[in-house]
Amino acid sequence: MKFSSVLVAFLASFVVAEEQPACGVPIVYRLFTQPELSAPLHKDCPANADLPLSCSKEITDKDSLCCVQQPGGLVLLAQFWDYDPGFGPEDAFTLHGLWPDNCDGTYQQYCDKEQEVSNVTDIIKKLEPSLLDYMNEHWVSDDGDNESFWEHEWNKHGTCMSTLNPSCYKEGTDKHQNVADYARTAIALQKELNTFGFLGSKGIWPSDDKTYPKQDIEAALKYHHSNSKVHIACDKSGALNEVWYYFHIQGAIPSAEYTPVDDTIPKNNCPDQVKYLPKKFNSTKPATGY
Ligand SMILES: *[C@@H]1O[C@H](CO)[C@@H](O)[C@H](O)[C@H]1NC(C)=O
Ligand SMILES: *[C@@H]1O[C@H](CO)[C@@H](O)[C@H](O)[C@H]1NC(C)=O
Ligand SMILES: *[C@@H]1O[C@H](CO)[C@@H](O)[C@H](O)[C@H]1NC(C)=O
Repeated sequence: MKFSSVLVAFLASFVVAEEQPACGVPIVYRLFTQPELSAPLHKDCPANADLPLSCSKEITDKDSLCCVQQPGGLVLLAQFWDYDPGFGPEDAFTLHGLWPDNCDGTYQQYCDKEQEVSNVTDIIKKLEPSLLDYMNEHWVSDDGDNESFWEHEWNKHGTCMSTLNPSCYKEGTDKHQNVADYARTAIALQKELNTFGFLGSKGIWPSDDKTYPKQDIEAALKYHHSNSKVHIACDKSGALNEVWYYFHIQGAIPSAEYTPVDDTIPKNNCPDQVKYLPKKFNSTKPATGY
């Protein structure tokens, strides 16, 4: 283990008022510690602890692409704050997607036509039906067409995940189990990464008239990401509209341990004083599309 103290992700159900220690809490997100939540249909891999961390120098040619995520070993969860018009709950950032960047921060996209789908909703209904309500509330498109948005995220990013390749699944597994595993993993991370609560715990709440020092927003998020920087993005009016959390992972996407990292985080485009606007659900502005 890289950290002397480890918070199991399921304990992290967030309490805003909680007393906080002086510096950031080291966290390894162990998403699927219960066997029934791991990836039973995925090919057998060595235990996570016996695998090299993605992007590490310990990776050799002998490491299976099904067990060690590569070349896209820099995994990030991207979230939206769609405030005008508002989408998703008024008190939550929504899920954008889970992306496998290359270790240097560049990325591949649309990696395999064969794996592309046009029926994510049907696949989820069949393989992970309990996810659908959450997806329709927290993984929403700003043009109203969630199905197209989910397809876009899978087809563009999911198909580039080496550990979700169809060849990584046991014989007889549904052809689209990888799509379900992609959605399940993205949502498990989304549930842990409570950006709204992370900011609120430092007194940063949406406001029509207040602005916040960029460094305070960055510090609040870093505090909750094992002292690793979190990428923030702003729109043209200097208002926060996206947040990206970076990880290196040990194991395959659906059963890995996720360790926060920040060595490749891009420069942000936010002004020194950032707007964080309340979501407007009665906006007359047209949606912009993702
Ligand atoms: C999704 O679409 C593919 C390709 O058309 C098809 O083979 C598969 O059966 C569909 N899955 C579901 C659950 O509808
Ligand atoms: C899809 O997303 C929208 C927001 O864009 C949400 O209001 C809607 O309920 C979702 N669609 C379905 C079919 O539930
Ligand atoms: C939108 O709703 C808010 C309350 O949620 C209200 O204060 C505001 O006046 C409304 N704006 C318009 C343009 O209707």
